[in-house]
Amino acid sequence: MRRGPLVIDGYLVEVEPGETLLEAARRVGVEIPTLCHHERSGTRGLCRLCVVEVEGSSRPVPACATEAAPGMVVRTESERIAAVRRVVLELLALETDLSLDADTQALLERYHARPERWGAPLAARRKREAIEDNPFFVRDYAKCYTCRRCIDACGDGVQGVWAYSTLGRGLETVPGTPLDLPLPETSCVFCGNCVQVCPTGALTPLQEVLLSEGER
Ligand code: SF4
Ligand code: SF4
Ligand code: FES
Repeated sequence: MRRGPLVIDGYLVEVEPGETLLEAARRVGVEIPTLCHHERSGTRGLCRLCVVEVEGSSRPVPACATEAAPGMVVRTESERIAAVRRVVLELLALETDLSLDADTQALLERYHARPERWGAPLAARRKREAIEDNPFFVRDYAKCYTCRRCIDACGDGVQGVWAYSTLGRGLETVPGTPLDLPLPETSCVFCGNCVQVCPTGALTPLQEVLLSEGER
């Protein structure tokens, strides 16, 4: 790949081979909000929260999934970008219990998101019962926004055992086990990688759940 600088929010950044716009921005201290992306699981390009504007491109592009190239001129904040992020966050909040996800709650405030303008919260996900099928962690998919980090971490991102896939369709899609089997009956080795990358508290160590129940 050609070497050379690009411009992000007025900062000149020398492009490293194979680097994404998100990585280039972080190198010069420009923070772009992300949801689905995680370095360890390799997940990227799903949620669209990290969109940025690139001069000459008619549509905003996801910074976590767009390769940086010399000569690009990138803006990470604008009215248009804020409007896209606001809608992404509002739709997320409409279908997901974000009560344990302080980071996403802070983003909702930052972008003045008002999920209620789309109507009542969608019950499809929220009504799901938490699954306690193993001695290590609970899977509470009412709190899941299907970022896929756990699926990638379990599969080719980190662990390589592929105990998870996706179940359901459309808004009801959640990670799950093949045939919805209890985790101990799958290839799961209880490494905990999926719990570590989950951003929402949908996957929580059982000990933490028991402690918080004891405090109530
Ligand atoms: S704990 Fe089980 S499901 Fe989670 S990443 Fe490890 S092997 Fe996969
Ligand atoms: S369980 Fe957590 S890591 Fe897995 S898809 Fe849902 S929110 Fe993402
Ligand atoms: S963080 Fe980039 S698309 Fe989700």
